[in-house]
Amino acid sequence: MQQLQAKRIVVGITGGIAAYKSIELIRLLRKNNAEVRVVVTHAATEFVTPLTLQAISGNAVSQSLLDPQAELAMGHIELAKWAQAVVIAPASADFLARLTVGMANDLLSTLCLATKAPILIAPAMNQQMFAQTITQQNLAALSARGMAFIGPNSGEQACGDIGVGRMSEPQEIYEALSKLFDQQQDLTYLSVAITAGPTREAIDPVRYISNHSSGKMGFAIAQAFVERGAKVTLITGPVNLITPPNVKRINVISAEEMHQQALQCAIEHQIFIGCAAVADYRVAEVAQQKIKKSGDEISLKLIKNPDIIADVGHLTANRPFTVGFAAETEHIEKYAQDKLQRKKLDMICANDVSGGQVFGQEQNRLHLFWSQGNKRLPLTNKNDLAKQLVNEIITRFKSTP
Ligand code: PMT
Repeated sequence: MQQLQAKRIVVGITGGIAAYKSIELIRLLRKNNAEVRVVVTHAATEFVTPLTLQAISGNAVSQSLLDPQAELAMGHIELAKWAQAVVIAPASADFLARLTVGMANDLLSTLCLATKAPILIAPAMNQQMFAQTITQQNLAALSARGMAFIGPNSGEQACGDIGVGRMSEPQEIYEALSKLFDQQQDLTYLSVAITAGPTREAIDPVRYISNHSSGKMGFAIAQAFVERGAKVTLITGPVNLITPPNVKRINVISAEEMHQQALQCAIEHQIFIGCAAVADYRVAEVAQQKIKKSGDEISLKLIKNPDIIADVGHLTANRPFTVGFAAETEHIEKYAQDKLQRKKLDMICANDVSGGQVFGQEQNRLHLFWSQGNKRLPLTNKNDLAKQLVNEIITRFKSTP
């Protein structure tokens, strides 16, 4: 694990009883020769004094956005640029909510908005506050924006409750921060094209055939690659998701459009991942006007769409390392291995979508197959799964001649 020697770290402290543990975190960082600047919210100063934090960090503590003296020493934008990483420990429910909506109403929230550095968040709050849907939604939104999390842990809380909400221990936070640096930017040499989401096949000007793909899995893969410095192009069907920072997004509607964009991208990228749920068939003749209700039955003639990933897999020039997905409801392993061969893929990620699993859900599990082996990635949220999948793809990519 990389040590944090000479790394420039902003430690943000918000109001919570766990703030006392941040003193130990700062001590650990300083012991390992990191440069530390501390930013506190007003509420944090009710729990730890700026004087203590100054003594431990070796630098003046920044408290206010509107402090002329502090701005003279190092302005908030300068501080945002100075940071190589920002760690917020403890992060209160209130601070997470403000961060989620992009507020900049104090120094710490402004800094988070202004920095390009990775942000590690160590939440700490009462277990019931942590379990609330709104808090969980905030965490999911921040995670989708690329922020990293450590904890919270489970156990007895200062208020006497028992549950999940205790801030991670300083050593755990320190290790998570080191990992963040370890993982950073090690794939800058790599370009990756990913398809995501559903396609829509028009029936008439107001109706279409589609499926329940939300795009979450594909977007999570894009984020996992871009966080490690890869150049990422995301070709996506219609989804309601925010593009991860620094990802090039190409919006498409139909399978034919996706096919055209994907084939162009495939030859320009080293890795191609087909995570989209592409419609296998489209309507043979799209009605120019809205189809009027008439008899009791109506028939639609469907014709086959091009198979995007098979066309990429069969490229004879500039073929990328090609990874497909298989969404199956039965005979998962057999069907996935069949697709691996038939579509000429380097790897296939099989998921069991029976009973409404996976499509649109937060979690997934995958069974990966390649010509020489297979590996299971157990059930977890799609962001974590994507990170594990990136590791597996990189291992196989590197061992392919
Ligand atoms: O988007 P989410 O809600 O997060 O859900 C994720 C997911 C279930 C969509 C994803 O994990 C997944 O399994 N994607 C592939 C869905 C699919 O269409 O599977 P398939 O077994 O029908 O297709 C096999 C492969 O061929 C896939 O890589 C698919 O992208 C590709 N394909 C299929 C048809 C076609 N005409 N062109 C293709 O490229």
